[in-house]
Amino acid sequence: MGVSIRRDERPGLPGLFADMADNCDRLGAPTYADLAAWMSESVDASGERRSLLAPYADARIGDMVPLRLFAAVHRIVLERRAPELALFYASVGGTPPGSERARESCRSAFAETLAEHAAEISGGLVHFPQTNEVGRTAALAGVLDFIGAQWGLPVRLHEIGCSAGLALRVDELVAQEVVPGPSVLPTLVERIGCDTHPVDPTTQDGRLLLTSFVWPDHVDRFERLRAALDIAARVPATVVQEDALSFVRGLRLRDGQALVLWHSAMWMYLPPDERDAIDAEIARLGATASNDAPLVHVALEPTSELPGEQHVFKLRVTAWPELDDVPPGMTVTLARTPPAGVPVDWSVPCVGGIVHDAGGRLLVIQRGREPARGLWSLPGGRVHPGESFRAAVAREVREETGLDVVPMRMVGAVERTAPDGATYDIRDFTALPVTQGEPTAGDDADDARWVGMAQLVDLPTSPGLVEALEEWDVLPTAP
Ligand SMILES: C[S@@+](CC[C@H](N)C(=O)[O-])C[C@H]1O[C@@H](n2cnc3c(N)ncnc32)[C@H](O)[C@@H]1O
Repeated sequence: MGVSIRRDERPGLPGLFADMADNCDRLGAPTYADLAAWMSESVDASGERRSLLAPYADARIGDMVPLRLFAAVHRIVLERRAPELALFYASVGGTPPGSERARESCRSAFAETLAEHAAEISGGLVHFPQTNEVGRTAALAGVLDFIGAQWGLPVRLHEIGCSAGLALRVDELVAQEVVPGPSVLPTLVERIGCDTHPVDPTTQDGRLLLTSFVWPDHVDRFERLRAALDIAARVPATVVQEDALSFVRGLRLRDGQALVLWHSAMWMYLPPDERDAIDAEIARLGATASNDAPLVHVALEPTSELPGEQHVFKLRVTAWPELDDVPPGMTVTLARTPPAGVPVDWSVPCVGGIVHDAGGRLLVIQRGREPARGLWSLPGGRVHPGESFRAAVAREVREETGLDVVPMRMVGAVERTAPDGATYDIRDFTALPVTQGEPTAGDDADDARWVGMAQLVDLPTSPGLVEALEEWDVLPTAP
């Protein structure tokens, strides 16, 4: 499989293992971190290991050779054919090495396994990493909840790059408490996925392949995977061998059902022109959507494409027609997750009001609270539970400026980090004043005024405010 990840400065195999050691260390996998660091130092020193990996001497980071090697060894451990190494692999009930002595024993058991099964491991290296991370479906479940609340329609769940299609069983995964999620989800009437290298989760070989790529220290990931494999054995889903673009081209909407197109951890494998083509196909289909046949594109993808930096995944949602007061085709970020998908860090929903008076001046307030306390910004704040985004705009503007407004359309969204580390998902709406008048500061605002362009740029404004207003074409028209 070709990948678009490229790091042209090739550090050689020792560098690739060092990268993996760093990743494992950061992601709480000490057994692999130690083994990868040791491989980094010894791969060139040992003739045996060097000859095993010789065909990969010029591998690039995106080829993920260390991960393939570790999976090939893990497979042998999972089949109980490396009892000495199994003592340290939590995936088969072992204990991660906690002392230098134990680490040495673990390394020599690893070296022995490499030597003893060299031919098999060399054959196993041809498998490109194939994982299906069950925890990522927690974010999908949260979005299905919004979709159910908005349309109340049964859902056709389609997935590109679905691997074994475990996420297509999201409802059962939530019902069996394998992943957290809302107690009631829309009924799934269709579960269809595609992958260029699909895995059959109902076969012994498929189960072993998926399990071998999970890092042995990550016991919770194993538990989720094993539970999901059991669910997959009784809840059928269709997985076709097809590339994402051709699959998306074949999608059609159907009256009385919502179509949800989901993907996770696969976008980085697509060349840029293929991503653009898929986005264009989705938008084309979206243009034909209606409240009777809506389309929702849900993506959970890493914020960085370098494997060493894939530590934050963002949940992005785009819907046709309007979902949750977000205009059709506009993308919002609803949450962040670690690579394994849980816990889901949902954003705090917030709003801002962009209000112009008849003379083209903009309504601004001086913030009385963090973040950006003392700086000038748009009136706004948190959406209350059960409140719509538009209703929140009207309430916040009234509370902070004393003015009544009619919220119109959402023009954009920004993300801000709150003092407590939470992320605010701030959706900004234009709004029309009901009556003309001077604002009176209240609630979270220390001051409120109408400003023309010259006054706005003179004020100390919250970071990014003027740039965002400019991008959305809603700067004050008054000089
Ligand atoms: C890292 S796995 C993620 C699997 C699953 N979505 C998850 O989050 O667990 C990436 C998957 O994307 C698939 N893939 C890569 N390029 C693809 C393409 N052009 N079309 C369809 N699937 C693709 C790979 O075969 C692999 O199964």
